[in-house]
Amino acid sequence: MAGIQAPTFEPNDDPSAATYERMATIHNACFPDWPVTADDVRHERESRDPSKFIERYLVRVQGEVVGYAETGHLQMSHREGKYFLHTQIHPDHEEATLATLTFLMGRLQQRGYDHLISYTRTDKSHRIEALERLGFVCLQKNPDVRLDLEQFDPSLWTESLTRVADLGFRLVTLEELGDSEDVWRAYYDLDWELMQDVPYTDSFTKRPFEVWVDQIKTPQFDPSLFHFALRGDEWVGMTECYWSGADHVIAGTGLTGVRRPHRRVGVATALKVKALCDLKRRGAKLIRSDNEESNPMLDLNYRLGFRSTGAWLHYELKVE
Ligand SMILES: CC(C)(COP(=O)(O)OP(=O)(O)OC[C@H]1O[C@@H](n2cnc3c(N)ncnc32)[C@H](O)[C@@H]1OP(=O)(O)O)[C@@H](O)C(=O)NCCC(=O)NCCS
Repeated sequence: MAGIQAPTFEPNDDPSAATYERMATIHNACFPDWPVTADDVRHERESRDPSKFIERYLVRVQGEVVGYAETGHLQMSHREGKYFLHTQIHPDHEEATLATLTFLMGRLQQRGYDHLISYTRTDKSHRIEALERLGFVCLQKNPDVRLDLEQFDPSLWTESLTRVADLGFRLVTLEELGDSEDVWRAYYDLDWELMQDVPYTDSFTKRPFEVWVDQIKTPQFDPSLFHFALRGDEWVGMTECYWSGADHVIAGTGLTGVRRPHRRVGVATALKVKALCDLKRRGAKLIRSDNEESNPMLDLNYRLGFRSTGAWLHYELKVE
């Protein structure tokens, strides 16, 4: 009956190696389809923009650490008064979710807030119920799509690669481009320009260059999974992929985008095809992505064979 005990909260400012392991275990119990390592958890914390506020807690039930919780400024979309709430509670103790979110909101009362953000997924009924009880409203839905790479047949897509090559586009990886400051700066500029067209409920905040680079270089970072399209010296588009966990069987996608003047000639399709062929060749079994439900990127993913398994839900609470 542990699940019905009231949770307690303690600051999680300086986790031990064992605490990082426990946090990864809890994350992986919640999301076995997107495993992380203790190093991933540590990196996410250590690479956060230090100028942004955050408070972190461990959640205990009857003395046992059953979850962790955080609230702070959004690095990606920052404004005073706007904060995210994040809870990761072990599935055996999901009943602690409402109390944990309520605790975080209580902490923020001292600072004053007018806009709260939280994410969850359609299969997380406790979290959805808790957010809605607290007055949060779902403002954006991103279907969670997956491609079984065993079903992906590269031979059906070779024409998409020759088409863009014939138009003068060159597809290269970050590894091939090299680890120079010029390369990272060009990537940073491209990323920021493309982000302006990614559907979201608010504007994005440009992270400092050093923070942005550090956040990309996760423990699973692999520059050969980042594909770019160049024409002459111009960086035209990109698609990013990441390994999930240490065994490199599951991969996920980051940003895919193409600069406006070069859209609708097949560049994004070619970048995705190249990435998928490469992942399949290297033994990956599954690739995951999510896109806002009206984004043409979602249709492009469906055409490549991705199938929806649920959706990520973006919740907000605005205080008038
Ligand atoms: C989505 C995006 C990456 C597509 O890039 P692209 O290079 O233009 O895509 P492609 O040329 O390969 O398009 C392939 C197909 O997708 C569909 N498609 C692409 N853009 C579309 C649009 N704006 N409206 C309708 N369908 C579209 C079309 O069916 C297209 O085939 P067609 O041109 O023969 O009709 C680009 O619009 C973009 O950069 N958007 C902003 C960034 C973003 O939101 N990325 C996704 C989130 S990670």
